[in-house]
Amino acid sequence: MTDQTVLKLNGLSKRFGPVVANDDVSLTLGRGEVLALLGENGAGKTTLMNMLFGHYLPDAGTVEVADPGGTLHPLPLGHPQAALAAGVGMVHQHFALAENINALDNITLGSEPLLSLRRDRRAAERKIKDIMARSGLTAPQDVPVGRLSVGERQRVEILKALYRDARILVLDEPTAVLTPQEADTLFANIKTMTAEGLSVIFISHKLREVLAFSDRIAVLRHGRKVGEMATSEADEGTIARLMVGADTPKVAREAATPGAPVLTLQNVSVAGRSKRDTLQGVTLTVHAHEILGIAGISGNGQSGLANLISGLAVPTAGMIRVDETEIARPSAATMVAAGIGRIPEDRHHEGIVGAMSVAENMVIERLGDPDIQSRGLLRRDAIQANAEGLAQAYDVRGPGVGAAARLLSGGNIQKLILARVFERAPRLILANQPTRGLDMGAAAEVGRRLLEARGRGAGVVLISEDLDEILGLADRIMVIRDGALVEAGTMDRAKIGLMMAGEPA
Ligand SMILES: Nc1ncnc2c1ncn2[C@@H]1O[C@H](COP(=O)(O)OP(=O)(O)OP(=O)(O)O)[C@@H](O)[C@H]1O
Ligand SMILES: [Mg+2]
Repeated sequence: MTDQTVLKLNGLSKRFGPVVANDDVSLTLGRGEVLALLGENGAGKTTLMNMLFGHYLPDAGTVEVADPGGTLHPLPLGHPQAALAAGVGMVHQHFALAENINALDNITLGSEPLLSLRRDRRAAERKIKDIMARSGLTAPQDVPVGRLSVGERQRVEILKALYRDARILVLDEPTAVLTPQEADTLFANIKTMTAEGLSVIFISHKLREVLAFSDRIAVLRHGRKVGEMATSEADEGTIARLMVGADTPKVAREAATPGAPVLTLQNVSVAGRSKRDTLQGVTLTVHAHEILGIAGISGNGQSGLANLISGLAVPTAGMIRVDETEIARPSAATMVAAGIGRIPEDRHHEGIVGAMSVAENMVIERLGDPDIQSRGLLRRDAIQANAEGLAQAYDVRGPGVGAAARLLSGGNIQKLILARVFERAPRLILANQPTRGLDMGAAAEVGRRLLEARGRGAGVVLISEDLDEILGLADRIMVIRDGALVEAGTMDRAKIGLMMAGEPA
């Protein structure tokens, strides 16, 4: 790291109607520096980066970016092309790759006219190879991006930014979708790149990785910058207090006695398209008043299990029972009707309809109910009142319940889904990576709600890559590996870790 400043944000402010997303935020970034940008869900992190990248026009403030020689120049605002040309690259919270074309074309798309000539194509391939060699980032180049894993797609996004000669790279929650191992590799790659002079801003809710991998930390709260410090001088407690303005409450966990089975799977198999959605002869029972934690490295069949329980996958063998009733033909509708509430892994695609309002999304699984619909007409007042009550109770913040759901911040989308699931008091809750991307306060709230549901007699299947989360909430743990489930029979972190990796306990 040198003292050379490569980026200055000066007094940036942005409002969306009544929401003050950013209020007079100033930041600097040094060459080769890794800056972590922290803050609660909705604090304004993504908005700030979107102004830097030209997606949003600030209401006030300026941005300066250094040229390769180190001289700062004002950046024309509101123009992504200008940001790109100035060497700013951004990898969004939600990827934006074209699914059906391959990585090579995704990487070059937009920066080259069209790689129709074989010569151009070879030059592009050479440049990408060179970038991969220097950064350590690799991804298959010749298969459609839709078939790549999440981690590979992310590397394609980063390669795309580097291909455009980014000198400042912004990563919005890069590790939210990665396994712990993938996250470590990513940070190792980032270190390699910063040693060559790349400067990085990354957004994260994971304090452990922030403390391990950043040089400096900036904290936003309610759109304002409330603190900034060298990482070497920071600790979890200080940062957490800065983020939320108070200590986060610890979730109290009371003992519970399991009741009757609410979900039984007997020798169930699912034929998926890949390893991640395939199950082989799975047998499990979840009882009332019980949280069953499913630990495992992602891609080992968790999607298959989630699809099965939510009725999105039809088993090729075996038997499913909810309470006493055998579900002969599972579908999303029969599982909802049987009393299963689902917190999906991919909340943007499976959790909400982005173009519909927050209020409509809150009733989306019960549009047929008489209090929601009468004689084919939606009861707008009832939907609105329901939404206002839920937004209050579940602390869904943002531009109001009438706004399109896609305008909510990532964490607030999850709160919307929680509100929808919990208000129906389901018999069984399928919680798939429920705290991914959530700030500490919101994550604690999810835990509290799951325990509350358990207290009133629901069964919970908690699928998570975060072993600490499972250890903190589950009554019993099973490990998923290669599409098969085994009882962990222990609450020992190290032993479960070994089982996840495929070694006998
Ligand atoms: N285009 C928009 N229209 C209206 N409101 C918006 C828009 N974009 C963001 N907001 C609101 O601005 C606030 C800040 O959102 P932002 O996405 O920047 O938060 P964030 O810190 O990135 O949160 P998270 O950690 O949940 O991703 C939120 O209340 C959000 O709902
Ligand atoms: Mg965000």
